[in-house]
Amino acid sequence: MATLTGNGVHGRLAGRMALITGGLRGIGLACAKRFAAEGATLLLSDLDPLDAPAVRAALAELDGAADYIRADVTSEQDWLSIRAALDEGSGKLHILVNNAGIDQTGAIDSISLDLWHHVMDINATGPFLAARTLLPQLARGGADVRGGASVINISSIMGIVGHAEASAYNASKGALRLFTKGIAMEWAQAGMAIRANSIHPGCIFTALLESGFQNWVERGYAASVDDLVEAMAAKTPMGRLGRPEDVAAAAAFLASDDSAYMTGTELVIDGGWTAQ
Ligand SMILES: NC(=O)c1ccc[n+]([C@@H]2O[C@H](COP(=O)([O-])OP(=O)(O)OC[C@H]3O[C@@H](n4cnc5c(N)ncnc54)[C@H](O)[C@@H]3O)[C@@H](O)[C@H]2O)c1
Repeated sequence: MATLTGNGVHGRLAGRMALITGGLRGIGLACAKRFAAEGATLLLSDLDPLDAPAVRAALAELDGAADYIRADVTSEQDWLSIRAALDEGSGKLHILVNNAGIDQTGAIDSISLDLWHHVMDINATGPFLAARTLLPQLARGGADVRGGASVINISSIMGIVGHAEASAYNASKGALRLFTKGIAMEWAQAGMAIRANSIHPGCIFTALLESGFQNWVERGYAASVDDLVEAMAAKTPMGRLGRPEDVAAAAAFLASDDSAYMTGTELVIDGGWTAQ
């Protein structure tokens, strides 16, 4: 990977190093853009190789504020590579967004053990490996800033409430929700300057949502993805699906000192869906 770079923007996140997994598209990329606008320096990771068009496009949009490393969140070796990349720079990490995730739907008797492990590995084990591997970098970063370092785990409303034919996804996102509270307690009680909070998006219009909706369509739940979008918007109290930027705004708040007294909590960004 190339050298980590910074930018000169002043803002709530000025001078902070942020790592965003799954940062090339959707919610991850929206967080990257928002963090860069608030002054952060970014390291994005995702599955695409360094020379992929999506990497070029994301880095161009971030205009010199970001660098990229190819890393699979399920690979311990890849986490060690991320740690080495951070150590080539300041060795400090102020913000970690565990955003990489996959959707998985299907009735319980259609989910193979391999598929179950796959969903759990990406959505729950990935954030565990991240927290374990990058603890020294987070501790060093946290010592720098008033609110401490901030770990932001992107769970889902499906980590709070159940949904038919989504049990593996429910389990993985529920695990991430309580994993977050566990590390939050551990670090707070040890007097460490690292906070951990989870974000629970509702239906946010991204590639993941579209392919998930396509699966429901193929299983006969709706005539088309557009019909399903319309139906989900109608079921949402605020009458629309969310945008990645809606989640990024909450992530920027949790990343900043504005949330300095928050740890182990969960922010629900769902247009009122779970309040019904
Ligand atoms: N879109 C929604 O409606 C919604 C709702 C609730 C929660 N979420 C969660 O938000 C997060 C981002 O979702 P999105 O909608 O932006 O999805 P997306 O598919 O647009 O982006 C996810 C990114 O994660 C990457 N990724 C997948 N597996 C990976 C792995 N093993 N290692 C590294 N990167 C990997 C993908 O390549 C992709 O770039 C996910 O954790 C998802 O579960 C999304």
